[in-house]
Amino acid sequence: MKNFISTSEWSKEELQDILDYSKDLKDNKFQETLKNKSIALLFFNPSMRTRTSFEIGIQELGGYAVVLHPGKDAWPIEFKLNSVMDSESEEHIIEVAGVLSEYCDLIAIRAFPKFINLDEDLSDNVINSFSKYASVPVVNMETITHPCQELAHILTLQEQLGDLSGKDYLLTWTYHPKPLNTAVANSSIMIASKFGMNVKLLCPSDDYILHSNYTSQAESNCKANGTSFTVTHDIEEGYSGANVVYAKSWGSLNYYGNPEPEKLIRDQYKHFIVDENKISMTDNAIFSHCLPLRRNIKATDAVMDAKYCVAVQEAGNRMHVQKSLLTTLLKDK
Ligand code: CP
Repeated sequence: MKNFISTSEWSKEELQDILDYSKDLKDNKFQETLKNKSIALLFFNPSMRTRTSFEIGIQELGGYAVVLHPGKDAWPIEFKLNSVMDSESEEHIIEVAGVLSEYCDLIAIRAFPKFINLDEDLSDNVINSFSKYASVPVVNMETITHPCQELAHILTLQEQLGDLSGKDYLLTWTYHPKPLNTAVANSSIMIASKFGMNVKLLCPSDDYILHSNYTSQAESNCKANGTSFTVTHDIEEGYSGANVVYAKSWGSLNYYGNPEPEKLIRDQYKHFIVDENKISMTDNAIFSHCLPLRRNIKATDAVMDAKYCVAVQEAGNRMHVQKSLLTTLLKDK
């Protein structure tokens, strides 16, 4: 039984097989690969794209999805072992994972970092606890990484650019009024490096460099592929010659759990917005973002409305890659 918690546990060839089948599913939407399969989608955080694409995708393959929001329409869950449960939680992950495994063929989880304790968030305890106590496959719908977004991102880049080997890829930090999850940024550098691109990480200062758990994976993927991984704080150097520009905002790891002083620093970097001037420094790059995106904060209207912006195509591809992934995970069951 295989989980899909991080793409680091999957080879490039295995991921490419999922991408190839998703191209078939894009042309032939209605197949019966999930007939009589039931899937639990657990959201600890809000979603638009993920919930819609999973729910409809499962239905299109003949399966059934149940959507639960623990702490709202389902009981709050305790994750600490040996806990005396005298607070808000009504049941323990051991029973929750066991019961859902009785009812369902697969469990998918969205559980963002809480941005209070970095070590706790890096442990990815919610999804790893489901994986430990469930007897069915577990899929990550975004925790401290976002592997389903990675698949949709790479499918979109392959549709636009063909073979990605040796292409120049820029992940740029952008401003946002709140410190956001690093998940998509972590995922972006891991998958771009795995698929053979030269990866540049552009962020305003060392405060915004991603955690070494993820930069070290990107570095080692680049080393294995004979490509480069570089970090820059210089906007022109970042954009220069890029074939792909991917944008994301995230909070500083150096100010984890300390949003007020971090905001004073972050507010100095509003000029990291993606605009036409920056895109003009690239090698006719395509631009994307995982969405949701605040227009004229993270990217200008002109960039979002340009032909080179493929963010909506990438969001559309979420559906196809997830259908392919679920079929792959459940086909031998
Ligand atoms: N990109 C993404 O996961 O979108 P949602 O947060 O709307 O699901």
